[in-house]
Order: sequence, then structure tokens, then C-alpha cells
Amino acid sequence: MRIAISTGGGDARGLNAVIRAAVLSAIGRGWEVLGIKRGFGGLLGEDECIPLTRDSVRGIAHLGGTILRTTNRGNPFNYPVRQTDGSFAAVDRSEELLERARSLGIDALITIGGDGSLAIAQRLFEKGMRIVGVPKTIDNDVSGTVYTFGFDTAVNTAIEAIDKLHTTAESHDRVLVMEVMGRHAGFIALHAGLAATADVILIPEIPYNVDAVCAKIMERDRRGRKFSIVVIAEGAHPVDGDESVLGQSLAGEAKRIGGVCGRLAWEIQERTGKEARSLVLGHLQRGGAPTGYDRLLATRFGGAATRAVADGKWGEMVALQTPHIVTVPILTALSETRRVDLTHDTVRTAREVGTSFGD
Ligand code: F6P
Repeated sequence: MRIAISTGGGDARGLNAVIRAAVLSAIGRGWEVLGIKRGFGGLLGEDECIPLTRDSVRGIAHLGGTILRTTNRGNPFNYPVRQTDGSFAAVDRSEELLERARSLGIDALITIGGDGSLAIAQRLFEKGMRIVGVPKTIDNDVSGTVYTFGFDTAVNTAIEAIDKLHTTAESHDRVLVMEVMGRHAGFIALHAGLAATADVILIPEIPYNVDAVCAKIMERDRRGRKFSIVVIAEGAHPVDGDESVLGQSLAGEAKRIGGVCGRLAWEIQERTGKEARSLVLGHLQRGGAPTGYDRLLATRFGGAATRAVADGKWGEMVALQTPHIVTVPILTALSETRRVDLTHDTVRTAREVGTSFGD
């Protein structure tokens, strides 16, 4: 048996721990393992495929990033190919990918990725590839699993930042607006904001009203709390506006969103007269070492993915359904984006302790 492993989409802390566990448990079964580098690039002549041995995965579980590299611009069904006039055209290179996989003797593929990569996995599965998915995103927005690895580390990074912002905001009587990742789902903003006692939490699931945000800030001001902390997910938007789009994306890349915090800080300052500043936490949420929780979850996912291959669970992905790791059809993940349930006790508790959602 020869299996291959790939990592696609934005990185998330814990990827290396998944790779290590999958490789070691495959080797333990007597299988060979190949690593496809840079998403599916290694099967498309854009990068290489390398043997993954005990040595290749030694000492990597605690490291961020992915030893296989990754890309968010390599969809083989919509591959951006430069034309003679310099423009890009989307080309279907999936047959070429399958042919290359066959020629390398790959019997099955474990692919680690978010919604985009899982959608590619599903299409490759439908074309006959024996594939098992491992869900990955720091946004925690994949359906079918309670948590994805990388989320806990991102939340802890955001908590540490909010703790730091508290002391400087308080010394200057400022409003500090911090933007965290979360394109479609506000889990990072909600969990970090509530744990680090932010005053306002704005998430894509609840369009916000700037007047309501300002009312919360001024209510605190009247109570002598002259500073406020606002945590906003990058995909949050006002009731009367759209999400904030950042510049031009590269060919093959999804819409780049972000920058909403700057606009909001400006509006708060204009309406309240209080000094408001903003920062984007950005890729700090993705780089560096994973937390213990993420290392363990990632390791469990890696082991479970190899078991799923052994059991022939093609077209399925591993998932956490606390306290167990199970497999569910990849289609479950693709059925809908997992978003914050507004009736969940986390949201109710936040409201009960006085956190504003800007509604
Ligand atoms: O999907 C995870 C995510 O972290 C999103 O929250 C964010 O919009 C996106 O990745 C950014 O990815 P990149 O900067 O790599 O394009």
C-alpha cells in the first residue's frame, strides 16, 4: 500500500502534527507514504512529491506551518494558467493530476484542508480517487466537526493580544478595535472576545449597527470605564453595508477580505468623540507553535485518517464529535458553512454579562 498526503488552503497550527501521526501510523501498518508538496502542486509539475519516512516527521509536532507547504491558489479543477498576453485563464487539470497519481502508484490520498480543499477532494473522489479528508481551518467553520485544529491556538493568540490591549487602552482612555480572522463565521471573535472580556464583539452572523456599538462605549464611559475593547471578525459587516474587501486578489485566490476595523474605529471616534485606534491581528493567528489542545486534536485526526484509509472509508473525512473522533461524508462538510449558533449558551452568556454584539 502506498498512500499520499497533501495540505491545502491557508495553514493552521497543527498541520505538522496531523502529518506526523498519519505517517507514523501508516508506516506502522507497513505502508509507504508520499508527501505531495504545495497543495496538489506536486502532482501538477509545480512542485515535487517526496517520500515521508520516520526521519521526515521527526520533531515536527510542535512546529507551526506545514512541512509539505501549502497554497490557496491551486484548485486543479480551476487552475490559473498564464496566457500569452499575460492574463490568467482557469484550466481543468484534474485528469492530469489523476494520471500522475496513478503513475506514482498512489493507492489512496489523505488530504488536509478547509472547505475549498475538501470541495476539491470531493470532486476527485467522484472521479474515482480513493480519498480521505482531514478538516482544517482556524475559523472553525467546517460542518460535521465540533472543532478543527488551529482554532484553539488562534483563540489563545487573540486572547493574549486582547489582554495586552486592555492595559494600554485603559491608560489612554482609548477605544481599541481589534480585527481577527473569520470570513464567514465569528468563532474566533466570540471565543477570544468573551474569554478576554471584550466589551463589544462583532461577528459576521450579526450585522452591526454603529450607533449600538457607540451606545455601549458611552454607557461604559458614564460608569467611569473610559476605555473599551472591540473585537471584530474580518467578515463582520454593518447592517447597511457589505464586508470589507482588501485590494486585489491574485489569480486563483478567493476574495481577500479585511480592514473593517479601521473604518469602524474612525466611525466610533467621529460619533463618540473618544480616541479610537485599530489593529489587524492577521497572520499572527496562524504562525508559531500549536497549543496542547491543537496538537492533541491534530494527532488524533492524523491517526484516525490512517484508520479510515485502512477501513476504505473513501469520500469521508475525520471529525470530532466530542468525545470521539468519527468519520462523516465530506459532503457533510460541504453542505453548509458552520456558523455561530446565536442561541448557543456562549452567545447567551456573553449577552448576560453585558457584552454588546452591536445589534
Ligand atoms: O480560512 C481561514 C482564514 O484564516 C480566513 O479567516 C482568512 O480570511 C483567510 O484564511 C486568509 O488567508 P490568506 O491570508 O492565506 O489568504
